[in-house]
Order: sequence, then structure tokens, then C-alpha cells
Amino acid sequence: CAATVYVVRRRMKSSGKWGRVIEILKVFEEDCATPIGKLRQVADAMTVEMHAGLASEGGSKLKMLISYVDNLPSGDEQGFFYALDLGGTNFRVMRVLLGGKQDRVVKQEFEELSIPPPLMTGSSDELFNFIAEALAKFVATEGEDFHLQAGRQRELGFTFSFPVKQTSLCSGTLINWTKGFSIEDAIGQDVVGELIKAMERVGLDMNVTALVNDTVGTLAGGRYYNPDVVAAVILGTGTNAAYVERANAIPKWQGLLPKSGEMVINMEWGNFRSSHLPLTEYDHSLDFESLNPGEQILEKIISGMYLGEILRRVLLKMAEEAAFFGDSIPPKLKVPFIIRTPTMSAMHSDTSPDLKVVGSKLKDILEVPTTSLKMRKVVISLCNIIATRGARLSAAGIYGILKKLGRDAPKDGETTQKSVIAMDGGLFEHYTQFSECMESSLKELLGNEASDSVEVIHSNDGSGVGAALLAASHSQYLEDSET
Ligand code: GLC
Repeated sequence: CAATVYVVRRRMKSSGKWGRVIEILKVFEEDCATPIGKLRQVADAMTVEMHAGLASEGGSKLKMLISYVDNLPSGDEQGFFYALDLGGTNFRVMRVLLGGKQDRVVKQEFEELSIPPPLMTGSSDELFNFIAEALAKFVATEGEDFHLQAGRQRELGFTFSFPVKQTSLCSGTLINWTKGFSIEDAIGQDVVGELIKAMERVGLDMNVTALVNDTVGTLAGGRYYNPDVVAAVILGTGTNAAYVERANAIPKWQGLLPKSGEMVINMEWGNFRSSHLPLTEYDHSLDFESLNPGEQILEKIISGMYLGEILRRVLLKMAEEAAFFGDSIPPKLKVPFIIRTPTMSAMHSDTSPDLKVVGSKLKDILEVPTTSLKMRKVVISLCNIIATRGARLSAAGIYGILKKLGRDAPKDGETTQKSVIAMDGGLFEHYTQFSECMESSLKELLGNEASDSVEVIHSNDGSGVGAALLAASHSQYLEDSET
């Protein structure tokens, strides 16, 4: 993890076919470079856009969505709640038994299902029917530990991880899809309304008491265990961040000032773009050919859905222009998204002397029977360039939030305020080089003194538990149980 360029070129000087391979590699490395000065520019641009997005609706590429969450979990939440988590390739249904400050999460059960790809681009009814049916099946397995008081309706927190314009804590309309979803007739609809209709169709009676983004759920889940959590970041199929803002620093907020004086903001930072972002020809063509051209530019260079695809595109160029895989181009290399980010991560962490994991992945996925050690080293270099850029830009985004909050540097005469960032997502959890690089780059940006007061934690499954916690703190029976 380093911003320096030319690393690869120095190690491999060649001519002929290899000369061209190295040239492509070198240009790519230069175009992806993220020296510290550039990261600072990105962070500053991020804070500028945060202000603009908070000032007015549509004021920035950063939507800075108001979540209606003005109180984060205290630990006192009690009772039995369901949560539904839809936002990527998988979706989860869960039930949680909350026991208050002493006992916290007493019991938790969940089931994970993958969304059949055709449903991601079909109709709203098809998607929501599938979800409601899975939920109904899960409810049917409810055991005795989860006892519902007589006369009460089950309550649900719905984590829906796409840009939503909330109209209250438990309602909101879908602005647009991201991450490979594209269901036209759902855009502009109240997603809770769509879910309730589907639940009625399958005969399920449940009340949706909270609608949250995964970042907001992760923030709630993180805060439940750690009072110093001020922001949450998802690095998974997509990427995004949420943080706690002062309500009077949100000029576009028309409602009453919340009692807490705070409001959680869902930044939708995946849609950030700036002239300071290091973009390459591969990023431009990936964006152009995507379901949402011109949108989610930061997400397309950071997140798990795209990293492996960037690798495929560079390898394809090497195959076409430098006969990297020999005289013919492996047909599989032409298939979009065939190299998935977990595969890239597995290759990147190959430490065997002959890089046999790289060799076997290329064989399995691209059907390339043999590869030389030199070729495998080039693949590792590409993985490193792509992951390093994504990781360092994520660090710049976090640094931008800390700057906006005035938590990027120790204040004179004040005791150091601890700032904890709750992180979740497969990329953060499973791609070690990525998360290590992200953390070391954040330290580099903060400098020695400030980096002691900032901590990054993994908030495991935070978004699901977080949604259940928010459902609990907004339960329709709250008054009853308090009296
Ligand atoms: C995409 C979605 C966003 C979500 C993120 C992480 O960026 O638009 O709402 O939080 O992915 O799942």
C-alpha cells in the first residue's frame, strides 16, 4: 500500500511484447496514483460537497439524505423485533431479542438468501413478493424464545440500501437504483408501501417501524455498543457513509429542531465525483457501459462490485495489445464481471513463491491453461494498484468526514475527543490488503497526534441489528411498555 509509482517498472525492464505489457501497467499505475497531496484534495472536495448537499436539495452530487434518525440507540431497547436487510447480492431476514442495558442482544437468528439476478432488473412486485415470501417462511420458524405479547403486531426494521428520500423514519421514496439493480417501476415509489403490499399478498401481518440505509443501521448498531461512534462506512458491493450531524448545520432541513439537536445523514458518498479523483480509461469505459452511466463514480473505483471488473478490463487490454495470454484472447476474458472481487482478493494475497493461487484462478476463471511466473506477477501488481487506489480513496473520504466534524486534529486546550468509525461490508471484512491499506492511509492523513484519537472498528452485522434497534426505539408499543 503506497502511493509511489514506477514500482513495477523498476522491477521489470523488458522489450518487445513485455515492453508493451509493462508500458500498459506503468500508465495504469500512474493514472491510479494517490499521493498524499491528492488524497487531501479529495478530502477537501468531499467536505465542500458535504456543505453543498446539506444546504439545498440537489445542491451537490452528494445527496446528504436526511434519515429522520435523531436519536441513536441507548442500550435500553427491549423486546422482540424483526429486521430485513436488502442491499446487495444477498438479503437477510432476522429476528432479535433485545434485553436492555444489562443483557443487550439476548438472542439473534437470521437467514441469508441470494437474490436471483433476474429479480434485480425485473418489476417491483416480483422483487417485493420474493422478499415477503422469504420473510413469511422465516416468521413461520419462530420459536418459543421469541414470545409475542398477546394482541401485539410484529414489528420490523427495514434496511434498504439504496438512495431513498425519506418522508418519515418509516417511509421514503426510491430516488434511483445502484449496484446493478434496475427496476424502473419502483423508482419514485414508497419502498415501505411496496413491502407492505407484498406482505399483504402473502398474508403476513407486520408493522414496518423503521426504514434505514445500511450505513445508518451500522451507525446505530455501532453506537449501541460504543458511545464514541460518530460515523459508519460500508465497504462492500457498494460503498457509502453516514454520520451524526448537528441539526442546525443542515440548512435544507425544514422540520422542527430535534430534541437531541442531532440528525443522522446518509451521505450516499458513492455518487461523489471530483476532478481530483484519479480516473483511468478503464474506469471511463466501465462507467459508460454500466446500468447507471455518469452516476456512482466513487463507488465504481472503490467498491466490491467493480474492483474485479477493472482488473478484467486491464487484462483484456494487455491481451489485445500485447498478446499477454499468447496469440489469441481467452474468450472468457471478454465476459463482463467474470472476475469477481473475492477472486481478485484471493490472488492478491497469494504468497506462495510460484504464485500458484494466481495460476489456478486464471486457469479456472479465464480457462488459460498455463501462465508464467512473470505473468502472475503482473496480475498481482494490477490487483495491488486497483486495491490501493480504492483503499486510499476510502481513507480520504473518512478523513473528509472527520474534517467536516472538526475531529481531524486535536484542539488546543481541549481533552482529546475520541472518534470511532464503525465499518462493515465484505470488502472491509474479507479483503485484508484493502482494509489494512485503508487504515494505514487514514493514519497517514491524520498524522501521529490525531490518529490516536480516531479508531476504526468492525461493526459486525451492524446494519441488521441496527435496524432492529431503531425499530425498537420507535415501536408503536413504546408508550405502553414505559408506563
Ligand atoms: C450504494 C447505495 C447506498 C448503500 C451502499 C452500500 O452506494 O446507493 O445506499 O449504502 O451502496 O451498500
